[in-house]
Amino acid sequence: MNISEIQFAHRFDGITGSAIREIFKLIAQPNMISFAGGNPSPAALPDEKVAELAAQVLRDKGKVLLQYGATEGYAPFVESLKQYAEAAVGCPLPAVLPVTGSTQAMDLLCKALIDPGDTVLVENPSFLGNLQCMKFYQANLVPVESDENGLLLDKLEEAMAKHHPKLLYVIPTFQNPTGKTLAAERRRPIAELAAKYGVVVAEDDPYRDLRYSGTPAPSIKSFDKEGWVAFLGSFSKIISPGLRVGYIAGDAAIVRKCTLGKQSTDVHTANLNQAIVDQFLRQGLLPEHIRRICGDYRLQRDAMLEELASFPAGTSYTRPDGGLFIWVTLPEGLDAKQLLEKAIERHVAFVPGTHFYANGGHENTLRLNFSNSTLEQIHTGMAALRQVIEASL
Ligand SMILES: Cc1ncc(COP(=O)(O)O)c(C=O)c1O
Repeated sequence: MNISEIQFAHRFDGITGSAIREIFKLIAQPNMISFAGGNPSPAALPDEKVAELAAQVLRDKGKVLLQYGATEGYAPFVESLKQYAEAAVGCPLPAVLPVTGSTQAMDLLCKALIDPGDTVLVENPSFLGNLQCMKFYQANLVPVESDENGLLLDKLEEAMAKHHPKLLYVIPTFQNPTGKTLAAERRRPIAELAAKYGVVVAEDDPYRDLRYSGTPAPSIKSFDKEGWVAFLGSFSKIISPGLRVGYIAGDAAIVRKCTLGKQSTDVHTANLNQAIVDQFLRQGLLPEHIRRICGDYRLQRDAMLEELASFPAGTSYTRPDGGLFIWVTLPEGLDAKQLLEKAIERHVAFVPGTHFYANGGHENTLRLNFSNSTLEQIHTGMAALRQVIEASL
């Protein structure tokens, strides 16, 4: 038999690979201004500090860190992480598991909960990477409508009553891709609906600490009395995505199932990386580091918003209080995929919004990232993008 006739598992049916990764291939040229991706700025990556901490922990604990570790995590980190996460989430957390990026938290949660055909309620649009993860577990994705303040509670309850979902996936703060934040007053009702209908909530909150304006809202988890909410956190956006350190926190039985699932995924998250993040937390380095990067990102966000103000009439866009993204809706009839081809000729890239919708459509939307471009690149790139759009009207 020819290798081209190989029969791959049905879980790959309909999975074509991340559109963003494909766009990355297209835009991998020098002098491209990329508003695609969700990378932290190179200036925000604490390489020198990490080198120092890595040398220190290897000197002090090298034989332990270079050995196999526990699936439950590197013990000193589990301790400092629990303290950090409880402060971030705003409530006691019965169990916390370090994972290999919060991407793995979603994968393990699906592994623990989703049988083929189970329904997951998702925001529409939502984070592509995790939509793909749910598809691998052959989940039936049911989008729930939002307004500018996030999920609509009546639509959410309707969907819970009708579809009997196993899971609700929500990104409450500075959402990827829209930059929207779920209104504070909608958070307690979501925790209550989850308990009423017996639905696990995956509260995915990696952008929580990247706030440039407005006041923080309590987590959904902080209103959870019975353990239905699993909180997914990450150090990717506030320290380094390359370290691949995140966590899942919440009910002990849910976290235990994720731990069992993790044993056969990667045994444990790299000890050295856990130890580096542990030192970041123990030495109290995080608050000052976050203050510094938020100062820069605020200016980058403001520069992009300033440029958007002169985009053609009929264009609307979000004004996020934090995070890394602005969501743009172009005049009806424009197709962001076609515009991307023209924008790439002008050395500017973004992600067409249609990729973030569970069922496609919404061709006139696009996502812009402002963290990974300098102020000068933002002004130059946005002017070019405006001209491309104007020429298409
Ligand atoms: C909403 C959301 N969740 C999770 C992730 C993945 O984060 P990590 O690097 O911790 O796997 C991202 C990354 O872009 C994200 O936007």
